[in-house]
Amino acid sequence: MNWEWRLGSRGQGRFFPIPHSPFPIPHSPIPNSLKMLSYSLIAPAKINLYLEIIGDRSDGYHELAMILQSIGLADQIDVRSINTDNIRVHCNHPQVPTNKSNLAYRAAELMVKQFPEAFAKYGGVDININKQIPVAAGLAGGSTNAAAVLVGIDLLWKLGLTQSELEELGGRLGSDVPFCVAGGTAIATGRGEQLSPLPSLDKIYIVLAKYRSLEVSTPWAYKTYRQQFGHSYIRDSDNLAARANAVHSGKIVKAILDKNTREIAQKLHNDLERVVLPAYPQVLQLREVFANQEGVLGAMMSGSGPTVFALVESQKQAEQVKLQVREAILDEDLELFVTQTITHGIQVASSV
Ligand code: C5P
Repeated sequence: MNWEWRLGSRGQGRFFPIPHSPFPIPHSPIPNSLKMLSYSLIAPAKINLYLEIIGDRSDGYHELAMILQSIGLADQIDVRSINTDNIRVHCNHPQVPTNKSNLAYRAAELMVKQFPEAFAKYGGVDININKQIPVAAGLAGGSTNAAAVLVGIDLLWKLGLTQSELEELGGRLGSDVPFCVAGGTAIATGRGEQLSPLPSLDKIYIVLAKYRSLEVSTPWAYKTYRQQFGHSYIRDSDNLAARANAVHSGKIVKAILDKNTREIAQKLHNDLERVVLPAYPQVLQLREVFANQEGVLGAMMSGSGPTVFALVESQKQAEQVKLQVREAILDEDLELFVTQTITHGIQVASSV
């Protein structure tokens, strides 16, 4: 059976799966017929259309102003109750750990800690990750898996958590996890966990490129940025807040509101390029090769990299750009994907 999310208004709406059905759908409580033992979830990747580092935070993180965008490239996460009292993680990708160092594992652990009675009632959780999103890529692959586990366990244990509650739990796991819950297009400030949704940007075609064996450490990127550019950080808390707020009236947000893809592409920005591009010439080269292709409206590194993405006008052009980049960089290590912007985060694909 196919399912889709019913998202209520932010903070109040419960994350509630409803079947695709022409008949009236019960809202609450969930009838017995809908009590599922396993859920299969779609966990989309994200790109950063905008990433500005504003200053330091007392918790050691950075104060950011970002625009995050969900994309069609996604992992599939199967979450199922098991008759044991442990958490198990499996993954088809050899580089992905299946122990506590996996954010999806830690998401399940957090749910166990938060909801001990539900854990006692429903038992352990088995998590299977079908990885399609490149790992350590700046695409929030780990974060979106963690978000899917939070949503999946919320459903399995019939907790009826709201979007805000899921986002709050996500924020304890990582800065990008809250966004991954509902996805779409959003401004993210603070550590990245304070979200203001923007009207969704649907079906902008994207080409992504990543060298399989190239990884950039996110802590390294931020630490290096602080070392090199920390002197220009805003220190005064009022000014910090004003700067973060300014993104709401910035040119890229206007372009998003106008649904002007060309203008969005012109205004792409990522401060972390200032440290990653000089240290990783392959990423710089990718960025330049993309920028020179016909049909590319704009190209940028996503997050802390090393993935580079290009916004392209049509699917046909995107396929063409993929071929051209493949021809320009003859390296088997380079992975290329054609995808598009999407309007949602975690979705239920099926349930049993
Ligand atoms: O929150 P998350 O675990 O994804 O962050 C990874 C690393 O990125 C942090 O350990 C920190 O070094 C850096 N970071 C930061 N400021 C942020 C987000 C991340 O310095 N707002």
